[in-house]
Formats: sequence, structure tokens, C-alpha cells
Amino acid sequence: MRTKSMRVIDNNLYVGNYSLVELADKYKTPLYVYDEVGIEEKIKIFSENFKSNKFTCEIIYASKAFLAPYLCKMLDAAGFGIDAVSCGDMHLINKSGFPMNRVILHGNNKSIEELEMAIDLEIEYIVVDSFAELVKLEELAKAKKKKVNTLFRINPGIHADTHAYIETSLLSSKFGESIHDDEILNKVMNIYLNSKYLHLDGFHSHIGSQINNPKSFVAEAKTMLNFIKRFELKYNYKINTLNLGGGFGIKYTDSDKEIDLELILNEIVKSVEEGIARHGLSINKLMIEPGRALVGDSGFTLYKCGALKTTFSGKKYLFIDGGMSDNIRPALYQAKYTVEVANRIKDELTEEEEYENLLNFYDVVGKCCESGDIIALNVKLPEVKKNDTIVVYATGAYTYSMAMNYNGLTKGAVIFVKEDKIREVIRRESLDDLINTCNFEVE
Ligand code: LLP
Repeated sequence: MRTKSMRVIDNNLYVGNYSLVELADKYKTPLYVYDEVGIEEKIKIFSENFKSNKFTCEIIYASKAFLAPYLCKMLDAAGFGIDAVSCGDMHLINKSGFPMNRVILHGNNKSIEELEMAIDLEIEYIVVDSFAELVKLEELAKAKKKKVNTLFRINPGIHADTHAYIETSLLSSKFGESIHDDEILNKVMNIYLNSKYLHLDGFHSHIGSQINNPKSFVAEAKTMLNFIKRFELKYNYKINTLNLGGGFGIKYTDSDKEIDLELILNEIVKSVEEGIARHGLSINKLMIEPGRALVGDSGFTLYKCGALKTTFSGKKYLFIDGGMSDNIRPALYQAKYTVEVANRIKDELTEEEEYENLLNFYDVVGKCCESGDIIALNVKLPEVKKNDTIVVYATGAYTYSMAMNYNGLTKGAVIFVKEDKIREVIRRESLDDLINTCNFEVE
């Protein structure tokens, strides 16, 4: 699962012009590293394959996967939009100089502050999650006397083959209003049709995350287009925009299926073009919201091995200087990762070494006070030594953004590497960062 510009020199892994050991020593570990060339390639794949001459195609990066000002700049240059889910996201995106008219706001329980900020910053769309939120938004828009452009989120009830926690479109899901709930949709339309300020430009759906099968997206597109056809006839209302959300998977381990992103994107566009023609719709904008697929497999995390332990029962532990605090995904979703020792890479093992390796199955675990603080189980590695640099691949999505300070651990730095350039896009947290919000004056 090595990244685009990684190579091996003298048994050591390099990204761009730098050895991973050098990076780990300079920026300290845990260290989040992005191979910028990999992200550029993904941007290119999305741009070249998500396009149509029948309608505008907009790619909106789901920033919950990972957000930093430098990434906003890369996305701006590529003409992408960004999906935010909080004031914090909008604040960072705005401060990075990103055009706010290419930002959309998501969330199933947006606060007044979030909605107001979105209105004030005149973002492209607020994606309204529910009837209750629409009522709240109407009041705010009225009070501000400001027009608000919206999409309304529909739960299409499509089953996507992924982990239950990241599947969002079951009928029992907390997101959106059900495609089958005519009563709610009547109430929703009653508000839109009588509102001076709220505009319904289209519909949004998102069926889950880490989806590898193009059929799931095609089913989603078909279901949404059928729904839009019925909706237009019922309300005599033209829909301009369809947003199909994100969820495009990446490969984490050798046993994951190959993902043909080009094929998935082409299939989506083709099925929407056909559906529009079949139903005679006037949709002129198609949107998607990839998060993980844009950044996930170009990112990796570096750790130092602090110690090794073989238990009385024979289990070998490799202790790294991070863990669930910088990558909660194995604990939360039983996510699997590929791990290597960056300073002990061998392209090909001899038979003897292969045999020796069979004896070295390590559980790679963190330093938090939790038994569930696991990064990877039963990983076959060469003989690991204290202070070796451990690399965990495909950690570019939902790691830094989900990181926490449990056990008083500080978040590591995030760097982007391209050839001889290193950009420290987020510095390492200091101990003072950890206590900045504490009030030491309380008696
Ligand atoms: N759009 C919406 C409305 C979403 O809720 C999400 C992800 C995305 C787009 C982007 O999905 P992606 O392309 O990244 O799969 N923390 C979990 C994933 C949670 C996904 C939340 N929503 C994980 O680590 O797997």
C-alpha cells in the first residue's frame, strides 16, 4: 500500500527525496505524512472522469476526512468545492482564502450558529437534513432577510456493503428524510413554496463510506432520479441539482478488492445522463463529495518503536509511540491496516528469510491505557528493533481529523512531501496547546 512517490533505497523507504526515518526524526512521531503527488493524481482522476457534456459536474471534497489550509489551496487550484460540517470547518476554510461560494454545509443537527455563519458567508448550499431544520432555517433567513440556496437531503434507503457504522442510508438512519415519507415531503414543500428566502435547488443523498462496488452508486443514482421524476410531476417543480454524496473506497490491505475509481465515476455519470434523458429531467448540475478517496491512500503515519514485548504465552507486541489517539479507526470500526518497518524494507525475501519472518507476527499496539488500543494485529514483519521507524499506510482519511488528546497525548504534525519540498501544514501540538482551555484560577 505504498504511496505514489515512494521508493526503496538501501533497505530504506523514501517518499519524494526524503527517507521516512529522516522525516520521523525531524518532525517527531507520531507524524502524519502526505505524498502530495498521490493527492495530485487523485485530483486528476476525479477531474478527468467525473465530467459530462450534458450537465455541470462539481466535485466537493468532504473535509471531515482531513482538513488543512494547504489542502484547501490545492483544491481551490483544481476548481473543487469543499463540504464543511461545522463552524470550525467553515472558519478554517474561510481563513485559508478558499472561495466560500464553493462550500456546502452538512450536518444532521446544525446549530443556529452554524446556520447563521453559513448564511453570512454566502456559501453555495446549505444541505438541509430534515423538516425541523428547514423550519429553523426559514426563521433565520427571514430574520436576516437573506436568500439561502439549499439542497434537501433524502435518505434513499439503499443498502451499501460496508461497516454498519459508516452505512448511512438504511431506513433507520439518522440522516435525511426518507424517500418514502410523502407526508414529510409535503410539509417540506409547503415551506419551500411559501418561502420568500429559501430556494430548493436540488436533492442530496449519501449511502455510506468505503464502498467499492459501482453498482451501489448506480442504484443510488437511479433511485434518486426516479424520485425526482415523481417529485417534479407531483409539485410541478423543476429540480436543477443532484448531489450523490461520497463514499468511494480505497485499498487498505492486500486482501481488499482493487478499486476502479475511473470506472465508478464513469458509470455514475453515464447512469445519470441516461436517467435524465429517460425521464426528461432538466437537471443541470451533478455533484459528488469524495473524502477518503481523495486523500486516504496518499497519507501514512510514522511512529517509532518504543519497546517490544513477548508475553509468557508467546505473543509478540510491538509498542508504538501513538495509537488510538492518532488513529481510532481499528478500535472503532475494526479497520485493518498495512504496516512496514521503514528502515528494514526488503524488496524480496529469500526463502530462509521468509521462513524466519513467519516467526515474527506482531500485534502493533499503542501507548494508551486501553486494551483496545490496537493499530494492527498479527502483522508479519522482519525482526523489529527498538527505535525502528514504523509506517502505517493509507491513514490519510479519518485519522488526524478524528485524533484526540486521550491520556494527555499531543497530536503530531502533518507534513506534505513533494520531491525536495516539505510543507509542514499543521505543526505538532505543544503541551501548552493542551492546557490552553484550562482555567488555572478556579479556587
Ligand atoms: N458526504 C457526506 C454527507 C458524508 O457524510 C460523508 C462521510 C462523505 C460525503 C464522505 O465520505 P467518504 O468519501 O470519505 O467515504 N469515520 C469513518 C467514515 C465516516 C464517514 C462520514 N461521512 C471512517 O473512518 O471510516
